[in-house]
Amino acid sequence: MMISRSHLLRPFLFSLLVVSSLASKTLHLFQHSHSVRQSSLILYFPTFFINETLLCIAVWFLLHTTSGSQSLVGVAITGLLAFITLFASASQIGFYFVTGSEVRWDAAKNVGNDPEGRKLILSGLKPVLAAALILLTASWLLTPGIFVVFGRWVSSLSALIPTDEPSVQLPISNRRRRRLSRWSRIWTLCVALVTVGLWIIRPAVPFNHMSGAVPFTLFMALRSQPPKYRQADTEPFPLPDLLQEQFWEPADGHFKGWAPGMGEFIYAGDSNSKPDWAPEMLPPGFHRWSSPEKDGINPDTPQDNRPAAVPLQNYYDPITDPLRITNLDQDVLEPLKTALKERDVPITHVMLVLMESARKDIFPFKSESHLHRSIIESYNTDDLGSIEEVNRKLAHMTPIAELLTGESSGFTPLDETVGELWSDPAEPGMGGINVEGILTGSSLSFKSALVNYCGVGPLPVDFMNEIQAEIYQPCIMHILELFNRLKETTSKEPSQDSGNSMQSIRERKWKSVFAQSITGLYDDQDVLNEQMGFNMSIYREDIAEPDAKYYHEDMEEINYFGFAESEILPYMRDVINEAVESNTRLFLSHFTSTTHHPWGTPEAYPNEQYFAGDSLLSNHEDMNNYLNTVRYVDTWLGDIMELLEETGIANETLVVLVGDHGQAFNEDSRISGTYENGHISNFRIPLVFRHPKLPRMQVSANATTMSILPTILDLLVQTTSLDEKDSEVALDLMNEYEGQSLIRPYKASQNGRQAWNFGIINAGGTMLSVGSAAVPYRLILPLTEDYEYIFSNLDEDPDELSSIWEWQLGPLVDRVRDRHGDEAAIWLVDAEKIGRWWVDERKRLWNYHETA
Ligand SMILES: *[C@@H]1O[C@H](CO)[C@@H](O)[C@H](O)[C@H]1NC(C)=O
Ligand SMILES: *[C@@H]1O[C@H](CO)[C@@H](O)[C@H](O)[C@H]1NC(C)=O
Ligand SMILES: *[C@@H]1O[C@H](CO)[C@@H](O)[C@H](O)[C@H]1NC(C)=O
Repeated sequence: MMISRSHLLRPFLFSLLVVSSLASKTLHLFQHSHSVRQSSLILYFPTFFINETLLCIAVWFLLHTTSGSQSLVGVAITGLLAFITLFASASQIGFYFVTGSEVRWDAAKNVGNDPEGRKLILSGLKPVLAAALILLTASWLLTPGIFVVFGRWVSSLSALIPTDEPSVQLPISNRRRRRLSRWSRIWTLCVALVTVGLWIIRPAVPFNHMSGAVPFTLFMALRSQPPKYRQADTEPFPLPDLLQEQFWEPADGHFKGWAPGMGEFIYAGDSNSKPDWAPEMLPPGFHRWSSPEKDGINPDTPQDNRPAAVPLQNYYDPITDPLRITNLDQDVLEPLKTALKERDVPITHVMLVLMESARKDIFPFKSESHLHRSIIESYNTDDLGSIEEVNRKLAHMTPIAELLTGESSGFTPLDETVGELWSDPAEPGMGGINVEGILTGSSLSFKSALVNYCGVGPLPVDFMNEIQAEIYQPCIMHILELFNRLKETTSKEPSQDSGNSMQSIRERKWKSVFAQSITGLYDDQDVLNEQMGFNMSIYREDIAEPDAKYYHEDMEEINYFGFAESEILPYMRDVINEAVESNTRLFLSHFTSTTHHPWGTPEAYPNEQYFAGDSLLSNHEDMNNYLNTVRYVDTWLGDIMELLEETGIANETLVVLVGDHGQAFNEDSRISGTYENGHISNFRIPLVFRHPKLPRMQVSANATTMSILPTILDLLVQTTSLDEKDSEVALDLMNEYEGQSLIRPYKASQNGRQAWNFGIINAGGTMLSVGSAAVPYRLILPLTEDYEYIFSNLDEDPDELSSIWEWQLGPLVDRVRDRHGDEAAIWLVDAEKIGRWWVDERKRLWNYHETA
C-alpha cells in the first residue's frame, strides 16, 4: 500500500485537513458534553459532522478532478484550507489548555486588532504551537490510512473519479468491486438520509452551535461587521404588577419621586430640564442637561460608528426607572452617625485603588475558605508538619489587607513582627468601612471601571464599545469638576485661613489624576480615562520614556502589560506633593497590575510554594503564581499607605479599595479566567472605604460596585467635607444614580421589587450574571444561542461547585423546582425576563443599537 513520492503532498494535506477538523470538533463536543443529555448527544451524533464531511468530499474532488495547472491550484487551495484549519484547531486546543473555555473568533479578531491585545494573545503561544506540532505529526502518521480509506469509500461510490491512484483500488476482481460498490452506495445513502432527517428535526439550540466547524466558523467571524449606532426603543417592563400606582412614591426634598412610566405625574418640572444649581457651562458628562444641539455629540469622541446628526434622546431617569430602590431616606448607620457628630472627619482627598483580579477570599486570605481547603488537600492528610508550615506561610500572605479591612484571616495570630510593613496609625476601633458581599458590575476590567467611577451599568456588548458613546451618567471626576465650576461662579473671597480648617478645605478645587505602571493603550483605556473626566493619566508609555523623570535603565517588566507597581510610586508622590503645595484636592486613582495573567513577579522577589509537590504536574501552577502576586500586591498597598503618611495626607484622605473583578482558577471551576465564565469567583470582590478617623465598621450588603459613587458622595456630604452649595448638589446627584449608599441600611427589596444585581461577563455581549440582594439565587443568562443557562443557590452552594447547567429555560426551571423548590423556580422565571429587559434598557440608555 505504498504511495509514490510524487503523490505524497496531496495525501498529506488531505490528512491534515481531516485530522485538524476532527480534533477541533472532538474538543468542541467534549466542552459541551456535560450540559447536553447523553441520549440527545448519541442520537444527533452523526449530524455534528455534516460540515466536515462535506468539506472533505469537496476537497477530495478538488484534488482528483483537476489536472495540469488546474491541479496545482487545487493543491494550493487544499493546502491553504488545511493550514487554516490546523491554525484554528491548534488555537482552540491551546486556549482550552490554558483557560478551559472556547475561542470565539470574533472576539479574538477584536483583541488581535489591538497592539497591546496581541501581546496577550502571544503570551499563550506555547500551548498552541505544541498542539499544532501534535496535529502535524498525527496527520503525517495517519496520511496513508486516511487517504486510502477515504479514497476507497469515494471511489466505491462513484465511477466518475479517475483512478490515477492505484493504491486506492482494491486488488480484487471487477465483479466483486461492483458488488461492494453497490453495498457501499446503499449504506451511504441510508446513513445520509438518516443524518439529514435527524438534522431537520434536531433543536437549533444547542446543536447548531455544536455543529459549528472550523474553518467555517473562523471565516464567518472575520466577515462579521462591527455594529452601528442608532436609537433604541424602550422595552415594556416584564413585571408590570410591581409598578402599580399604589407603589408610587412622591418626591421629597432631594428625592425625585418614583412613578415609572408616568414621570410627569409627580414631578413638577420636566426631569430633563436643567437643575437650578447647574452653572451656565456644565462640564463634560452632564450632557443630559445640556441641549443636544450644543453638547449632544462630544466632538472629542470618535464617531465613525455614529451618524453625526443623531441627538442623544435617551438618558437615565430615576423617577421612571422600574428597578430603582433608594435607601437615602434611611439614617446613616451607627456608629458612623454618632462618630460624625462628635468630631470632624476631613475628606480632603480621595484615593481610589482599583485592584486587578482581587478576589474577596484573598483580601485578606481566609482560613477555611474553599481556596484554603484546596491548598490543604494538595498535601497528604497525615503530613501535619507540611500543613502547619503552609498555614504559617498563608497567615503571612495578606497582613496589609487585614489592617485595611479590619477582618481577620482566621489563622492563629502571628507572633513574629511583620517587618518593614506599614503599620496602621489609626486609633483602636477606627479605620473605616469594610463591605462584605460586593459583586463586580463586570468581569471585563474597563467595563468594571465604568461602574466604579460613573455608577452606570456598562453596555452588554463585547469589548469597550462604550468609548464611542456618551456615558449615561456623570462620572465622579465630572462631578468634582462641577464643584470646581460652581466655585468660579460664586465670587466669594477665599478665606484668609490657609491652614487645615474644614472651611479652607471646602474652598479648594479638585484635580483628578490616574496612575498605573502598565500600558494605557490596551482596550483604549486612555480614551476611556479621558472620557470619564480624568485631568491627567500616567501610564507605562509615559514612564518608559528615557527622558521621563524617574526613568532608570533596569526598569523591570513583570508581564506583557508593563512594569511592577513600584515604578509608579515616585510619580504618585509628586502628584500628591504638588496637590498639597497648590492647595488642591486630589482625586487620585491607581490600578494595580501584578495580579494580572500571567502572574509574574519581579526577578528578585522570593516566590513561595503554597501547594504541595510539583505544582506544574498537579496543575496548581497558575493559582500558586497568583497567590505570590497577591502577596506582592499586599506589600505594595502597604507602600501606598506609607506614601500617604509620608506626604502628610493620610489623616484627611478617603482610600477606596475595590477589586476590578475576581479570578476563577481550575481550583474553582471547570473554566478558568474571566472570559465567558460566569463563575462566582470572578465576581466576589473586596470593597473598603478606609479613613483613619472613621469608625471601623463591618457592613454586609449584597450589592454591586454601582454603589461606590453614591457612597463616596454620601461620605463627602456626611463628613461636611463639601461646602454648602456642593453639598446640595451632591445630595441632589446622589438621587440620580441607580446604586444605593453603603453607609445606610441596604434595602434588599421594597414593595415586592427586589434590588437586582447585574454583572456583565467578559467580553460583554454573550452572557449576563443576574442576582438579587433579596435571595441567594444566581442566574447566568446567555445572550446568544451559543451558551448555557446556569443556576446556583449560594446559600447551599456558596462556591458554585454544583450549579445546574441547561441549554433551555424550560428544563432548567423544572430542575430548579425539583432541587430548590417553587420559590427558586419562580424567581428564575422573573430573573430571566428582568435580565433580558436590563440588557435592552442598557442599550437604550447608551443610545446604542446594532443594525442588522
Ligand atoms: C480638568 O478637566 C476639566 C475638563 O474635564 C477641565 O475643564 C479642567 O480645567 C481641568 N482641571 C485641571 C486642574 O486641570
Ligand atoms: C494631618 O496630619 C498632619 C501631620 O501629619 C497635620 O499637619 C495636618 O494638619 C493634619 N490634617 C488634618 C486635616 O487634620
Ligand atoms: C448575602 O447573600 C448571602 C448568600 O446568599 C447570604 O448568606 C447573606 O446573608 C446575604 N447578606 C445580606 C446582608 O443580605
